[in-house]
Amino acid sequence: FDTGLLSGKTVFITAGPTREALDPVRYISNHSSGKMGYALAQAAVDAGARVKLISGPVNLPAPPRMERVQVQSAQDMLAAAMDGIDSCDIFIAAAAVADYRPTAVSEHKLKKGAEEIMELRLVKNPDIVASVAALPRKPFTVGFAAETRDLLSYARSKLERKNLDLIVANDVSQPGIGFNSDENAVTLVSRDAALVLPQTSKRQLASQLIRQIAELYNRAP
Ligand code: PMT
Repeated sequence: FDTGLLSGKTVFITAGPTREALDPVRYISNHSSGKMGYALAQAAVDAGARVKLISGPVNLPAPPRMERVQVQSAQDMLAAAMDGIDSCDIFIAAAAVADYRPTAVSEHKLKKGAEEIMELRLVKNPDIVASVAALPRKPFTVGFAAETRDLLSYARSKLERKNLDLIVANDVSQPGIGFNSDENAVTLVSRDAALVLPQTSKRQLASQLIRQIAELYNRAP
């Protein structure tokens, strides 16, 4: 592995799920373990980068030789992502951010009522990676697309809509890869090409992704 591939570069990486509170004891979230994002952060450090890892709540120790900022909600994650963004050269969004949050957080624990059906009202969360990609001085921005069908066409439309430089298409309908597993398989998609990276450990895959991202970043105008 070329340890100098990203030397002198600053990489921000989001990882893990977000938690959107309903009341003091309940939240909406998802099955992201943070393993993919943490492996990318490690691979970026190994390639010589200065790394800020912006992590939702996960059961992983803080990796060495990087700054980890721990957050809960999507709004917190956005604030942590924007803090110091002027110094960021490459932004990688591996987090599984909740698209919606409850419209209001109850101050006290919600009580069970007599009704059989309870309705939740949700409001859209800010899109972190799209906000970064909309900045006037935009870092080289890499998103993920977690899809259960039409993987490449949904990934391509997210690439366009969010103004990303690259997107990592992740089929999360396959058992043994994606959310909360130790292995993954993805397709790295740019505006004009697609590269299949077959199933392997998230560590291995992260090294391959960082190498590809660094090469495309260095080639970008
Ligand atoms: O954490 P692991 O258990 O290791 O699992 C890894 C993973 C499956 C979570 C990871 O590989 C992955 O696919 N992450 C993206 C999950 C996701 O929520 O994708 P999405 O298609 O909903 O979002 C598209 C992109 O926009 C992602 O880069 C996401 O981080 C970003 N996003 C989405 C919503 C939002 N409000 N803000 C964002 O930044």
